[in-house]
Amino acid sequence: MEKSLKERVLITLKNDKRFYILSERYQEILLKELSNIYKENANTLNKDQANIYDEYYNEFYHSITTGPLEEAYSKFVNPVLGLLKEKSVINVLDIGSGMFVNSGVLAYKLLKLGKSVNIISIDKKIPPFIALNHDSDEVRYMLYKSNFYLNSNRLTWQVILEDARALKTNMMFDIILHDGFSPYRNPSLWTLDFLYLLYKNLKEEGIWISYTSNKSVQSSLSFLNFKIDFIAPVGRKRPSIMALKIPKHKSNIDFQNPHAIPMRDITLNTDEEKIISDYFIRVYLLKSKYYSPSKD
Ligand SMILES: C[S@@+](CC[C@H](N)C(=O)[O-])C[C@H]1O[C@@H](n2cnc3c(N)ncnc32)[C@H](O)[C@@H]1O
Repeated sequence: MEKSLKERVLITLKNDKRFYILSERYQEILLKELSNIYKENANTLNKDQANIYDEYYNEFYHSITTGPLEEAYSKFVNPVLGLLKEKSVINVLDIGSGMFVNSGVLAYKLLKLGKSVNIISIDKKIPPFIALNHDSDEVRYMLYKSNFYLNSNRLTWQVILEDARALKTNMMFDIILHDGFSPYRNPSLWTLDFLYLLYKNLKEEGIWISYTSNKSVQSSLSFLNFKIDFIAPVGRKRPSIMALKIPKHKSNIDFQNPHAIPMRDITLNTDEEKIISDYFIRVYLLKSKYYSPSKD
């Protein structure tokens, strides 16, 4: 049987010499933190018809509290409509396109506002079409029917089936919808290096939007000098990050929190267990050097 992500992270961690520089106490705290992150998803049985559960990442595609549509509207679409209102042509990059709910709802709303929309969606796999009983079903269904390449009057939509880290495009985007699984389970999509690749394909004043508030992701965005805004939470406890590429903006880095260091993937093809174990070793080396254990 294939090893779980947790097993692979633990093996990689214990094969890294730096792990043994940590005191036994810190090794123990680190292993406990990882156990918490990779604990079985208690919601596995609570299956929603219009949602998909990914066995490998041990997560649902969409929030099971709000469901796919409310999540798409509240986290990805409503926060950006005002910012896009002056543009007549909008280029969208859809990272982790999954069921195409975020991109489908955004396309539907923008077309309704009279805009022209060009979308590039990218994912490692494409699930079967799932109807959501919403007006945006039509545009998503058209995409499936046209074999994932649409070229109509005001909408072009191309789907690329590969690891998003291999993305190569000349298109510059007005908005990036960033929707991987959670950062510590799906780190390939949340490293400084991958975010830099996206940054280079974003127009000035462009928008990067996700659902996470992860400290490492936040600090990577700050390193890239994105201007960070927070969107009030819906169906979860924490706000989500929206980042704007504002020329000459300088961000502050959070040096108070050892978890607020970037995850790294310099070659853009590092195994996810390596990204995670490298990150946590660096976090705990920092903690043990500069932070008192009593603060944990
Ligand atoms: C939370 S789901 C996305 C839901 C989707 N945005 C929607 O509207 O239905 C995360 C997606 O990220 C994809 N993914 C994870 N790692 C990836 C990678 N390295 N490259 C491309 N896609 C990836 C998964 O296959 C999955 O479809």
